[in-house]
Amino acid sequence: MCGIVGYAGARPALGIVLDGLRRLEYRGYDSAGVAVVCEGELLTEKKAGKLANLEKVLAERPAADPVFGDGATAPGIGVGTTGIGHTRWATHGGPTDRNAHPHTAGDGRVAVIHNGIIENFAKLRAELEAEGVEFSSDTDTECAAHLLAGELARLRAAGEPDGPRLLAVAMRQVCQRLEGAFTLLAVDAGIPGAVVGARRNSPLVVGRGVGENYLASDVSAFIEHTREAVELGQDQVVLITADDIEITDFAGAPASGKDFHIDWDASAAEKGGYDYFMLKEIAEQPQAIADTLLGRLTENGEIALDEVRLTDQDLRDVDKIFIVACGTAYHAGMVAKYAIEHWTRIPCEVELASEFRYRDPVLDRSTLVVAISQSGETMDTLMALRHAKEQKARVLAICNTNGSTIPRESDAVLYTHGGPEVAVASTKAFLTQLVACYLIGLHLAQVRGIKYADEVAAVVAQLQEMPDKLRELLAGIEPVRELARDIKAAPTVLFIGRHVGFPVALEGALKLKELAYMHAEGFAAGELKHGPIALIDQGTPVVCVVPSPAGRGMLHDKIVSNIQEIRARGARTIVIAEEGDTAVTPYADHLIYVPRTPTLLAPLVTTVPLQVLACEIAAARGHDVDQPRNLAKSVTVE
Ligand code: F6R
Repeated sequence: MCGIVGYAGARPALGIVLDGLRRLEYRGYDSAGVAVVCEGELLTEKKAGKLANLEKVLAERPAADPVFGDGATAPGIGVGTTGIGHTRWATHGGPTDRNAHPHTAGDGRVAVIHNGIIENFAKLRAELEAEGVEFSSDTDTECAAHLLAGELARLRAAGEPDGPRLLAVAMRQVCQRLEGAFTLLAVDAGIPGAVVGARRNSPLVVGRGVGENYLASDVSAFIEHTREAVELGQDQVVLITADDIEITDFAGAPASGKDFHIDWDASAAEKGGYDYFMLKEIAEQPQAIADTLLGRLTENGEIALDEVRLTDQDLRDVDKIFIVACGTAYHAGMVAKYAIEHWTRIPCEVELASEFRYRDPVLDRSTLVVAISQSGETMDTLMALRHAKEQKARVLAICNTNGSTIPRESDAVLYTHGGPEVAVASTKAFLTQLVACYLIGLHLAQVRGIKYADEVAAVVAQLQEMPDKLRELLAGIEPVRELARDIKAAPTVLFIGRHVGFPVALEGALKLKELAYMHAEGFAAGELKHGPIALIDQGTPVVCVVPSPAGRGMLHDKIVSNIQEIRARGARTIVIAEEGDTAVTPYADHLIYVPRTPTLLAPLVTTVPLQVLACEIAAARGHDVDQPRNLAKSVTVE
């Protein structure tokens, strides 16, 4: 997690770095800090809490900082044209001012920011302390700062020419001593105009500007300034100056990144008049689905993936599918299982990525592992993917973030074109992940000759109707908001569903937990009688996700019985059902109709009221909807 920005150019760095941090704040908001190189000095500021706290402190700083003895003044932090900034999701050391990044060393002349975990930090710290280094934080990052300052001093003492390259040489030496996952950025007061970065198992992209260059955890930090970016490889060091980008591996051998163009625009990452990013992103779902479907059907009626390093024969050889993902993406995988097995008849298992490799799954060349991730950086999913590749399985990624690690390490990719998702709680990413899963199921069915082109086209046509159905649903969503305010004080909210409604129930409960900090649980409706029904008390709200009666009638009838059972025990039933489904009316204390949708595609509509419900309850309880406590958008630690 943690958001990282670096800038080298001709403009004042501070504003650019702060703007970038604002866009990256979703990655962590325990503290924020900046370091700017200015006329041979390093000026830093850092503060616990959200970026706003840092901005307040910066605003209170005099325009010209009185510094450096003799009562002399130097230009202020707002003037320097080289800078780095960090927004933190705490791992080592609590979320305090002293643990905020940047961490400085070498008499305050070197500043380092870091994302990830340096696993051998205890050993390094002991070594440094034995050499007399004094630490001023509890972080693992500070080791890297002292190591870098030490390397720079050693290189200078050895007569190495000073300048940007010295920073890169020193950083490479440091990286060779670090274990774990890290993105590091550093500046040195004596090397103005240069920022050095390094990455291992943690994200870092380069933004290529004109007379200026950027480094960031993801492209949203710099899309306002440039849409040209460079994807870095694993174990690389990158040095940026105003006019140059130099990439090497950790040993110093020249390396190259992969250039790409970012097709999001800056306004896509702004709130656009909504109170919260989450509301904006919920409203963007029709477009996000339409965009994800765009151009997927070739002239021959075949489904096109984005980057396919798998042949049709590889896909025909698949005899087992594992879907690996976390959180909301895992729920998308659960829905996918129903569709993929139904359409392809290939056995499909869904696994929590964090559990996958530890249970030693049976994988071989004919196993297809589908890794679903919005960010493309989730460490649990990345590790599951790597385990799958070690076992020779083929990996296909579903991802929303171009240039991120998961798609880069996969054999094939289908990008969800959801645009930037800023709110920590995933909404449009979930719906677009569902669409991507349907497309993959159809592609597999077609390649294996189980579905004809016209059958595939028929499902794609149903998918293409979904944006309008969602618009219709969102236009009538106000009653869900009212209901949210009504149940905001409930101690527990339960969610039940069957078939594809089961993962929807889990997703509804997850949203409520993470946003409203309420006890919420999702169940397969049939499981209630095996225990959870004991949770139902007088007035307990239970959200019931009802399948279409036009799909599998038996399924519909079963859940109607389940609703009666819980109502008889005092539950306040909130029923999500298809328009025209009158069978549920007598048992619904609140009835929320969604547009008619084919059974397997129903989660695309039934999830939406649950997203709105959670968002509104959280707002009514006074919580920060976009940045819920203890969470971060991109979870780059295991
Ligand atoms: C919940 C949520 C998380 C993510 C999970 C995986 O609203 O957003 O559960 O779905 O952390 O993240 P990605 O999709 O980036 O791998």
